[in-house]
Amino acid sequence: MFQRLLQIVKLTIAVVVMVMMVTVGVLVLYLPNGQDKPIADTSPSKPTPTTWVAQPAWAPKDVNSDLPDGSESDQVRYGYALITETYKHLGPELDNPQQIYAGNNLACKNCHLESGTKAGAASFVGVFQRFPQFRGREGKTGTIADRINGCMERSMNGQRLADNSPEMQSMVAYMQWLSEDVPEEAKDRYQGFASINLPNRAADTLAGKNIYEQRCAICHSDDGLGQRVGEAGDQRGYVYPPLWGADSYNHGAGMNRLIKAAHFIKGNMPLGSTAERPLLTDEEAYDVAAYVDAHSRPLKKNTKLDYPDLSLKPVDAPYGPYRDTFPAVQHQFGPFPPIMSYYETLKETYEP
Ligand code: HEC
Ligand code: HEC
Repeated sequence: MFQRLLQIVKLTIAVVVMVMMVTVGVLVLYLPNGQDKPIADTSPSKPTPTTWVAQPAWAPKDVNSDLPDGSESDQVRYGYALITETYKHLGPELDNPQQIYAGNNLACKNCHLESGTKAGAASFVGVFQRFPQFRGREGKTGTIADRINGCMERSMNGQRLADNSPEMQSMVAYMQWLSEDVPEEAKDRYQGFASINLPNRAADTLAGKNIYEQRCAICHSDDGLGQRVGEAGDQRGYVYPPLWGADSYNHGAGMNRLIKAAHFIKGNMPLGSTAERPLLTDEEAYDVAAYVDAHSRPLKKNTKLDYPDLSLKPVDAPYGPYRDTFPAVQHQFGPFPPIMSYYETLKETYEP
């Protein structure tokens, strides 16, 4: 009798432990900021069925729980603040004009989601080791600071930060910290955006408008201008950022390229989408991206100087000059495969 009872108790414990482990596994897999912590309390006396429980997926570090105290961490912490609350530290509503570097009230993390740690949202996890890097837009090799300034001048519609400014150095320090000890197999997952099968047709902005109204307007507003935390002028940024208009990214930004925007949207929008579990089809992402980017936004100066070697210009760069004779509207709305194959052929015969 006692033996039976003991057996039942043991069995119950085993089941409870298994359920707990599976739950932890699932949480770690699906919660964006889930940490790769060892599974709690597995003392040897308890049965631990490790053989069939999936190993928790690797997860990036989190400033709020993984950054040690101490002055060395302060720089990383400031970098994190700059990326999550850019409007508060560099934004156009600051009282001191000397501190204003961003031309809009966005935050870096509006596009680099989850403080730059979300897979499929051009995360900063592993980014540090990818620089210096040759960039076609500038036509030369650039540092990670140059790349950040690319987003400052375009996505943030602002100005370059000096390489040796505390702000630049802190953002780089945060990215370097996130990029430490990233396992080889996680690197691809955390780089860039999801991709889509590109439809071989021009994007349909009318279809895009319908998708926008049904799937996006609830957060980004009917007028696309987003929803502020408080009021204009309060330096508190947005709950839901604007997608066009005066306070959005400018026309030279990566997000203003249709294919790039479709890739971002596919893996991230509506909010809750992930690269592994998107909520839109490829066609929907393509059409709604076209609708978003068809709206007016600030103009970047000197875009003529971009891509000094025009054969490296992305097919969806929505501004000329181009090294081909496809109409400008096709570079903006597609169909892109014909332009792509033109450049493929060019590459085969091209001599720089
Ligand atoms: C549930 C609310 C919600 C819905 C629905 C939603 N978004 Fe967003 N979107 C956000 C939030 C919040 C961010 C900023 C992310 C962050 O800061 O964590 C964002 C960011 C963006 C950005 C990049 C930042 C910017 O301002 O340009 C784009 C582009 C975007 N969304 C497009 C879309 C599109 C297109 C749809 C519909 C298919 C959509 N969103 C649906 C909440 C939403
Ligand atoms: C409106 C959206 C948007 C905002 C806001 C934004 N970026 Fe970006 N950023 C992009 C896009 C798009 C890319 C290109 C991603 C790609 O092609 O994989 C990018 C790329 C980058 C990269 C290179 C990533 C890599 O894997 O090579 C860095 C670093 C970066 N951004 C930093 C920043 C910083 C810092 C801020 C804030 C000061 C910022 N970005 C704000 C859209 C944005």
